[in-house]
Amino acid sequence: MSNAIARLEALTKAPPKDPAERLNIYNAARKLVVATEDPFNTICRVNGSPMILTFAQVASDLGLFQKLAEASLPLSSASLADSTGANPLLLSRILRFLASNDMITETGEDAFTASGVTRTLARPGFRAGIAHTFLAIMPCLQATPKFLADTGYVNPTDVLHSPFQIAHKTDKPSYAWAMGQPKLMEDFNLWMAEQHQGQRTWLDVFDFAGHVDGSSAETLVFVDVGGGIGQQCALIKTVFPHLPGRVVLQDQPFVLPHAIPTDGVEKLSFDFWTEQPLKDARIYYMRNILEDYPDDKAITIIANTLPAMTSDSILIIDEMIIPNRGASSRSTLQDMTMMTSLASTERTERQWDTLLDRAGLRTLQKTAYNAATGESIIVTVPK
Ligand SMILES: C[S@@+](CC[C@H](N)C(=O)[O-])C[C@H]1O[C@@H](n2cnc3c(N)ncnc32)[C@H](O)[C@@H]1O
Repeated sequence: MSNAIARLEALTKAPPKDPAERLNIYNAARKLVVATEDPFNTICRVNGSPMILTFAQVASDLGLFQKLAEASLPLSSASLADSTGANPLLLSRILRFLASNDMITETGEDAFTASGVTRTLARPGFRAGIAHTFLAIMPCLQATPKFLADTGYVNPTDVLHSPFQIAHKTDKPSYAWAMGQPKLMEDFNLWMAEQHQGQRTWLDVFDFAGHVDGSSAETLVFVDVGGGIGQQCALIKTVFPHLPGRVVLQDQPFVLPHAIPTDGVEKLSFDFWTEQPLKDARIYYMRNILEDYPDDKAITIIANTLPAMTSDSILIIDEMIIPNRGASSRSTLQDMTMMTSLASTERTERQWDTLLDRAGLRTLQKTAYNAATGESIIVTVPK
């Protein structure tokens, strides 16, 4: 036993650098925590999770993670009180909580330094992620149990009728509501950018250049249906700056003015409940669109695209695929976020296969480009 503990301690001090090896050890360690915890540890873990988020938000508001990350020596609650203006006794309680929950390191009595976790939480994208979850998602979670009880525990599928509307006292879908909340949108966009920073993209697993080979200036090469603020169009222009042909961002009229300005990207207001007006594109692309709808509605969106497709066209669906068994907590977390804030759903591989078959599509390629999240592309053609 002491040998096992010594090996675990050695791993704690020098975790492997290889991401896949780290993930394996992380998953095994999580199982070990659960296998060895007593009932009070269990209840602390379960009941403590909203408090961890709440005090991460407070620490972030006070800039505690940044101050600790920038300090070369341990800081006390008194010194942090000086630089934040917060009461030292209040700070000492918050710092103790953060340390006991592994967000900062306690090096002595009332002395704290940054750990790797602190430095992560100090990054602007993670600060924004905490704020987004605390301010936009947490109120939805609070509203969820009653919402599900009141609606007889049916699977939420109406974007206008979800815990989100109750939590934020709105009758708008969350995207439309968020457009009127500039600070929230800023945090959301920072958080999305952070999550994708340095990660592989779908262009790493799809032969884009090969598929659009032979295109001319008039060729419609890429139509991003419901492309939001146009990150994927911008990515294509960055990766293939000399690509001839038209790249079109389609979304609702109130979204397009927020699009990232990208040279050579056309913006076209389009409602995907109507037939696709742009015919014969090489690639129609839908990222995080079908997850927002139950199967029948998702099939309608696809059906509105099929008449535009020719034998040169493909439809790429870029979405999370949850494995049929053994889903990661990261993907199920995302699924619950979708359910409570958008009445939408992530799908398992089997659910995707069934949906696309019903929609009249044949799958040519199905590849994950982010193993940790299950983000994948499904390349399809009409059957
Ligand atoms: C989850 S976001 C995905 C955005 C983008 N594809 C991405 O992956 O970042 C869904 C997008 O669908 C757009 N949308 C919703 N209803 C639409 C409609 N009827 N027609 C076109 N776009 C729509 C929203 O405005 C939003 O930009």
